[in-house]
Amino acid sequence: MDIYLFTRLVVCWALFAVLLFPLLLKVTAPYGRHATMKWGPVMNNRAAWVIMEAPALLVFVFVFLTGNGQKNTLNLVFFLAWVVHYTHRSFVYPFRIRNHRRKMPVVVMLMAFFFNLVNGFLNGWYLGNAAAYAFPGWLFDVRFLAGAALFAGGLSLNWWADNRLLKLRKVLQPGEYIIPRGGMYRYVSCPNFLGEIVEWGGFALMTWSPAALSFFVWTVVNLLPRALDHHRWYRRKFADYPSDRKALVPFVL
Ligand SMILES: NC(=O)c1ccc[n+]([C@@H]2O[C@H](COP(=O)([O-])OP(=O)(O)OC[C@H]3O[C@@H](n4cnc5c(N)ncnc54)[C@H](OP(=O)(O)O)[C@@H]3O)[C@@H](O)[C@H]2O)c1
Repeated sequence: MDIYLFTRLVVCWALFAVLLFPLLLKVTAPYGRHATMKWGPVMNNRAAWVIMEAPALLVFVFVFLTGNGQKNTLNLVFFLAWVVHYTHRSFVYPFRIRNHRRKMPVVVMLMAFFFNLVNGFLNGWYLGNAAAYAFPGWLFDVRFLAGAALFAGGLSLNWWADNRLLKLRKVLQPGEYIIPRGGMYRYVSCPNFLGEIVEWGGFALMTWSPAALSFFVWTVVNLLPRALDHHRWYRRKFADYPSDRKALVPFVL
């Protein structure tokens, strides 16, 4: 595939996300606390997480390693950043989820599987084939430095916030929830989603890759509506929910 065809594919993929956005603002994604039986057959939650997230790791690694672009140190840094995130998401995070009785609709798993397949392919192809980082100086470029800092900060926030929730889940009954408190939970209902968005925004900046930019767009399109849904749900469920806490962006949204 040449880079022009690739770029057109990425643009279509990002436009698809933008078109879906109004729909996702209206329809609550039916997994986790919003799970319902209305979306057809359901499956084991843990298995669903592994199956739907693994393509983002496996396809990415395969396409990157078989790509015929130059593999310099920076490409390998980006490769490692992706692999760290997705090894955790596909093979560590699912085994830390405690809510064994939780089910996920098969259709949700299939949609996420497809998304991760395409996303893993596009990002692996770009980093494995386009020698965009061959030019000298990128390591000290402000885009690389700022992007790397955002990626590391976003990943840390995402892991910290997920960890906080998983610890709560450990001591609660299935289906029981409490208000998370402390750290970034003082400011927003979903710091895990905020961290994920910042992380992939940073990745797009540091790789200067159209594929990573499309992934950033998708992450916002997926997680902003989910954060709004969680936030409304918390406010309905807990009369004492902190009124100054926002959904996703401190003091703003
Ligand atoms: N890049 C993307 O497009 C994308 C898309 C989706 C998810 N993700 C990432 O995947 C991870 C998980 O997403 P998610 O939507 O499943 O997150 P979530 O709804 O916040 O749930 C995370 C875990 O914490 C538990 N939990 C949440 N709030 C709780 C509370 N108040 N009390 C007790 N337990 C609570 C949940 O249990 P229950 O299941 O019982 O609610 C679940 O096991 C996040 O890091 C997210 O950023 C990324």
